[in-house]
Amino acid sequence: MKNTIQNLRQKKITQQPFSMVAAYDATFSMALNQAGIASILVGDSLGMVVQGQASTLPVTIEQMVYHTEAVASANLRAEEPALIIADLPFMSYATTESALTNAAMLMRAGANMVKLEGGSWLAETVAQLVERGIPVCGHIGLTPQSVNKFGGFKVQGRLPEQQKQLIEDAQQLDRAGADFIVLECIPKTLASTITSSVDCSTVGIGAGNVTDAQVLVCYDILGLSDNPARFVKNFISAADSDNPIVDAFRDFNQSVEQKIYPAAEHEY
Ligand code: KIV
Repeated sequence: MKNTIQNLRQKKITQQPFSMVAAYDATFSMALNQAGIASILVGDSLGMVVQGQASTLPVTIEQMVYHTEAVASANLRAEEPALIIADLPFMSYATTESALTNAAMLMRAGANMVKLEGGSWLAETVAQLVERGIPVCGHIGLTPQSVNKFGGFKVQGRLPEQQKQLIEDAQQLDRAGADFIVLECIPKTLASTITSSVDCSTVGIGAGNVTDAQVLVCYDILGLSDNPARFVKNFISAADSDNPIVDAFRDFNQSVEQKIYPAAEHEY
């Protein structure tokens, strides 16, 4: 089955979780295609894992375009191309006007969907993007572009009033037309409530095995991260073949599809 938005959303109904991996170049794009990964996220996490910055804030729209082109051009040559999602970087969607202009740049670079961080305040922008034919992935919970507001990369949604707000945020993004919503670093019980209260598909990272999909950064899957977060699993250690990198991605894919990953030790 082709990795279209429609087909991937259908998996929520049939309760078949799908996998997404954040990657930033043509070589990883090809390895992920070979492993059968449904979706590749060109994440602004590249600011940290490629550029070595302390946060995602320095990443520019030009850099996102460059990496999106690299991933998308290799993906196009795949037998079963993945769905490409590209991040709108910090402050590139501060107004609806700038969101439309910058999202258009990412779509021209080869993205099939754009991702932006934030809740209810973004609903109008999401609706405008969707109306103009640009599919949207929301992102709530630990939104790394707000790291200064949070005082660090911390689990979100532990308090009842935060939980209420996050449920409301997800519902507003859903109503505005978002196809996917990333739920990052929130308690599993909250992720479960959000997933069952929206029509769109939720994509978890540090949100337990209750979301409609799972996303991890490619280097985390390969055990290359310094000081990995609780939700990270090194899949390379289980790989034993001529191509351990593709095998690690394949293992991640199967573990997500079979709901083996994330396990209880990866939850909050
Ligand atoms: O930028 C990124 O890679 C992300 C994922 C970690 C969800 O937003």
